[in-house]
Amino acid sequence: MLQHFFNPSSVAVVGASQNPHKIGYEILENIIQYKYRGAVYPINPKADEILGHKAYPDLISVPGNIDLAVIVVPSAQVMEVIEQCGEKEVDSVVIITAGFKEIGPEGSHLEEALAVRAKALGIRVVGPNCLGIIDTTSSLNASFAEGMPLPGHIGFFSQSGAMCVAILDWALGQNVGFSRFVSLGNKMDISEVEIMLSMEHDVNTRVILGYSESIDDGANFMVAARRVCQTKPIIIIKSGTTSAGAKAASSHTGALAGSDHAYSAAFKQSGVIRAKSMQDLFGYAMAFATQPLPKGPSVAIITNSGGPGILAADACDRSSLHLTPIRKETADRLREFLPPAASFYNPVDIIGDATEERYEKTLEVILQDDMLHSVLILLSPTAAVDSEAVAYSIVKLAKNSEKPIITVFMGEKGVRRARRILQDHSIPSYEYPEDAISALDAMISYRRWREKPPRQYKHFKGDTRKVRQIFSSIIAQHRHDLIESEAREVLRAYQFRLPENRIAKTTKEAVRAASEIGYPVVMKIASPDVLHKSDMGGVRVGIANGAQVEEAFFDMTSGIRLRQPDARILGVMVQEMIPQGKEVILGITRDMQFGPMIMFGLGGIYVEVLKDVSFRIAPLSVESADAMIREIRSFPLLRGVRGEAPADIEGIRDSLLRLSQIAIDFPEIIEADINPLLVCPEGQGAVAVDARFTIHE
Ligand code: ACO
Repeated sequence: MLQHFFNPSSVAVVGASQNPHKIGYEILENIIQYKYRGAVYPINPKADEILGHKAYPDLISVPGNIDLAVIVVPSAQVMEVIEQCGEKEVDSVVIITAGFKEIGPEGSHLEEALAVRAKALGIRVVGPNCLGIIDTTSSLNASFAEGMPLPGHIGFFSQSGAMCVAILDWALGQNVGFSRFVSLGNKMDISEVEIMLSMEHDVNTRVILGYSESIDDGANFMVAARRVCQTKPIIIIKSGTTSAGAKAASSHTGALAGSDHAYSAAFKQSGVIRAKSMQDLFGYAMAFATQPLPKGPSVAIITNSGGPGILAADACDRSSLHLTPIRKETADRLREFLPPAASFYNPVDIIGDATEERYEKTLEVILQDDMLHSVLILLSPTAAVDSEAVAYSIVKLAKNSEKPIITVFMGEKGVRRARRILQDHSIPSYEYPEDAISALDAMISYRRWREKPPRQYKHFKGDTRKVRQIFSSIIAQHRHDLIESEAREVLRAYQFRLPENRIAKTTKEAVRAASEIGYPVVMKIASPDVLHKSDMGGVRVGIANGAQVEEAFFDMTSGIRLRQPDARILGVMVQEMIPQGKEVILGITRDMQFGPMIMFGLGGIYVEVLKDVSFRIAPLSVESADAMIREIRSFPLLRGVRGEAPADIEGIRDSLLRLSQIAIDFPEIIEADINPLLVCPEGQGAVAVDARFTIHE
């Protein structure tokens, strides 16, 4: 896949220059100096030879085939070069040139025209506005980056060229090897999706790293990432985490959703590991590229000082790793050579006077304990220890170990050389214990994701005809918001359990409805214009008799008329009062990139303040629905506290899956809330008490 980009037999640089200050010179120089083995063709109408290679005035004049063309001519000339590519049957092109979509409408038009033409000619394009590409296996550096990474197992793609340069510099500084570097630029044609898929098939890439600002085709991204993650970890740092999209939202779900939630959900659902900082990105990359995945969550910590050990233990506590106590047999073996003052639990503290020999013996014993799945070695540079000798011992023992071993040699001057030894031998070395634990945590999370059985999807057959009728009639009335009775019909069409209710236009009708339903009842204003009813005094609960019904009817209708004079009032909804349960909120919102997104949270009036909600992209698998429920901070409240009966989690899960089905069946729904969904005690289900939907045409 994309073979001509990464392993071409011949490369042409269109816009190659003899002027060493031009990018066209730098790219050609990189291709030549890093020993690309195929044919190289500089293209320049004014030169006969550049950097020792015969130059050609245009692509057509080149005698042989050209697999890859790197275009580095001003933007106004790019189209003409693309035409030449078509004529010469060059099917792979990297456009370095800037001045397209990123500069505004004029550049956008040019880019669109270019995309259309390239597609028509069957040409695949990386860029424009990019730094280029590098493949260390084919020794191709078709970029104007400074330097060439060592061969290695990390494949990297980035939307930002500057980020490519930064990562490359880090890689050179740390001796970290890379398989491929791809600067995606404006992603006119080739996006991260195809790059991930190409790296899936690249034997030299073990871990895929990415920097992303936006993902345009969310659905395809998820399908591709989910597939690739089955065999190779993908770690992405996503910038631009603000929730601009939430500004105009009218539902709770819309107000709480931002594009960042969509990215987080999509990453979680497709197995992508999200790095929260550049430090994480580098840290995870080192661990994944050099170490085997841990077989389980149990980590052993070896340290010669208490403080760093405690910091690491605290970090473990916040992660999914287990600091399992060292079992007796292992502790007894350690006692044979460690001083009595050492700690034989976990962290194993081999105390301040520990020598390199003590480190080596301890690590040897710990590696033999099958109950411990990974090892973190902490070292503070005391006078007693030769940190370089410890580094060599770790390198030696790691060779025959199937467990991940990672290290934190604290300090700087005293441990610099030891760290270098570790890095040179592919042992991850971190500055701080928290970073090391975070990397191990990412590894175990990834392993768990990969080992999960295939996700289960349930299909719910709703009365789609009925819902379509409701939506058509609303659109015909030039409305977008469903009134409650319409929203209830939609939910009823998908077999949600609903409280019994009646619409009453007069006080008399309300009293009759209440006595038919049975006291106590709930009364709610029925109006398409009042969206947050309780905020507007449009909801009364626990109404016990006819007199209270009359009073509530009067207060509610006159109150709304006063507060929102233009609101259309269709009457009052009299509803059965569900006696017991925990209030939760379920919602739909539609993300520009990823499509329908489902929200779950503890309901009630504080939902927007507490923001204790979880999101996933629809369609939800049964496992995703479960994970959403368990992910919120207040989940223990649903399980029941102080002798309370646990809430019916099954009922919530079923409702989430049904709502996901609605979101998939009806793309015209842009926002929806079921708020509250009243969750009865375990085994008794959940009742959708109130709902609102917003649709567009
Ligand atoms: N065919 C072949 N050669 C051509 C053609 C053509 N159709 N048109 C021009 N050339 C030659 C020129 O004669 C020149 O060669 P010369 O030095 O021998 O005269 C060479 O191609 C380059 O053309 P120039 O007009 O000199 O253009 P210049 O090199 O100044 O700029 C460039 C071209 C680099 C593509 C510029 O337009 C540009 O886009 N710069 C920004 C690139 C960038 O930042 N990309 C994103 C990087 S990612 C990041 O942020 C790090």
